[in-house]
Amino acid sequence: MSYPYQIKSLEEYQNAHQKSVDHPEEFWAGIADNFKWHKKWDSVLDWNFNEPKVEWFKGGKLNITENCLDRWVETQPDTPAIIWEANDPTEKDKTLTYKELHFKVCQFANVLKNNGAKKGDRICIYMSMVPELAIAVLACARIGAIHSVVFGGFSAQSISDRIQDAQCNIVITADGAYRGNKDIPLKSIIDEALVTCPSIQKVIVLTRTGIPVSMIEGRDCWWEEEIKKVEEQGNAFCAAEIMDAEDMLFILYTSGSTGKPKGVVHTCGGYMVWTNYTFINVFQYQKGQVHFCTADIGWITGHSYIIYGPLSAGATTLMFEGIPTWPDAGRFWDIVNKYKVDILYTAPTAIRSLMAFGNDHIEGKNLSSLKVLGTVGEPINEEAWHWYDEHIGKKNSPIVDTWWQTETGGVLISNLAGVTKAKPSFATLPMPGVQPLLVDENGKEIVGNNVSGNLCIKFPWPGMLRTTYGDHERCRATYFSTYNNLYFTGDGCLRDGDGDYRITGRVDDVLNVSGHRIGTAEVENAINMHTGVVESAIVGYPHDIKGQGIYAFVILNGIHTDENHTKKDICQTVAKIIGAIAKPDKIQFVSGLPKTRSGKIMRRILRKIAEGEIHNLGDTSTLLDPSVVDEIKMNRL
Ligand code: WTA
Repeated sequence: MSYPYQIKSLEEYQNAHQKSVDHPEEFWAGIADNFKWHKKWDSVLDWNFNEPKVEWFKGGKLNITENCLDRWVETQPDTPAIIWEANDPTEKDKTLTYKELHFKVCQFANVLKNNGAKKGDRICIYMSMVPELAIAVLACARIGAIHSVVFGGFSAQSISDRIQDAQCNIVITADGAYRGNKDIPLKSIIDEALVTCPSIQKVIVLTRTGIPVSMIEGRDCWWEEEIKKVEEQGNAFCAAEIMDAEDMLFILYTSGSTGKPKGVVHTCGGYMVWTNYTFINVFQYQKGQVHFCTADIGWITGHSYIIYGPLSAGATTLMFEGIPTWPDAGRFWDIVNKYKVDILYTAPTAIRSLMAFGNDHIEGKNLSSLKVLGTVGEPINEEAWHWYDEHIGKKNSPIVDTWWQTETGGVLISNLAGVTKAKPSFATLPMPGVQPLLVDENGKEIVGNNVSGNLCIKFPWPGMLRTTYGDHERCRATYFSTYNNLYFTGDGCLRDGDGDYRITGRVDDVLNVSGHRIGTAEVENAINMHTGVVESAIVGYPHDIKGQGIYAFVILNGIHTDENHTKKDICQTVAKIIGAIAKPDKIQFVSGLPKTRSGKIMRRILRKIAEGEIHNLGDTSTLLDPSVVDEIKMNRL
């Protein structure tokens, strides 16, 4: 039996999917054969969702950076690996060929070693979208250190929580970052975070904006000076650390419905296979193409489809430092035009926001290089889908609506560009290896078509999470305990008459604001830290651009004098505790919250009020004090 690596027809897709279900081990061994291994695996798959235990290619020895770099240095050294576009369009862009990127990764890997880093260490990376961010990530992987990238928009408190949770010993950062017309003082935010992080021994600081920063003797050093030391030592090459397929590659923190964000763990072998296979198939990547994923590397989309997927395929990946609306809302189209981008992968929130700026920004930009368009991160509404199709793709570029999660490592449900059919607002079909099913509240499978339920996956795929760092029980409880023997995604989903899947949004207390996952409990905790707040409840409501906005119902302790001022202070508190992305869009002060007799907040009612559905609140008879609902309805924002 042969398994064509790149699926070229609906029939091939159906065959591949069928084989992946009937003979998963044989199927994935065939796929994994396409990589550079120092030693092949002892067993393809060992699993048990109850523990959970998931092991792919165990005993296989590899280093992901040899698959992303060394093998391309041999065959296509001068192909651009990374093209970088600066925030400021007048700043010169940069290109790193595979040879150059390999050199720089080795060099920085040696910097890490000089600073005491070794296999298994956890290294926190807090940078903006500069090429050195990709270099730092790959250098960690080169030496077998586990990277934990923290998005540049998170606050000192959030960084500190993540560093402490993973017990990182090194931070890699920059003096500052450019984002639109703002300068962000990254190093000073790190300094604030490190007050509570005794595990950190070294901080390596890249020069980007040149703002003055404090440098602590013995702890802080400059990236450029450390590179010079490596040059003086003359050891440009760094041999790749040989890793087991099941050794940890990285931790990435993500929000859930309870508690603090958890560190989702991905391992070397399965993640590599999954990001590569999905990249090549979903986007139908062709040799020589330029791939522009507009996500930030601080999120999973950037990990999988700016760095590991494209580089492991020998593609040219475009990194953009800035934002879509600066200096104007035509920036993406300028970039597509300038670099003749073939594949554009972005979020519905960006599409909706650019759509709102009008089509003038597209005029005069040559978008004819585009062959495939993609969306990710949240449901895409049909209006935005059609605008993307007509005005960007000129009805000539298939759109892939890719559904996946931080936990899934790469795309699980999506059409394959131009190969399987696209349907507006539907992610459509599962990737080979993915076995979705819908269940009702009791975990009973909902069979047939034209049905909806909670989306679960019943069989492991190579890219799935293995644990949550330092707390395996939390991984089990969050994903594998709701329904017996199933991975529960937390998403609601519909399967239509054709058997196509449409993801309808989270069914747990997680919001999706501009494609970013935000836990309601986290925002509530942050709001409650404000001195004037007694209690709060957060729900999402439909927002034209962001997809979901954050609506906060807040009980004050009565000593405030100026409501607007208090609202601003609450927003500031949230920005300090989590980051600006979690600031509420609306804050309504209330005298009480709708609670059951056992004290549980009935969010269902608050959600309906926030959505404006005030006449159909459902059963309120179980409330401790139904009269608070009338007051909340009356003062709705
Ligand atoms: C949502 C992002 C609808 C979903 C890769 C999921 C989507 C959460 C889609 C994961 C899509 C992602 N259509 N909803 N195509 N893609 N989502 O971990 O609710 O940041 O559970 O991963 O985003 O967000 P995360």
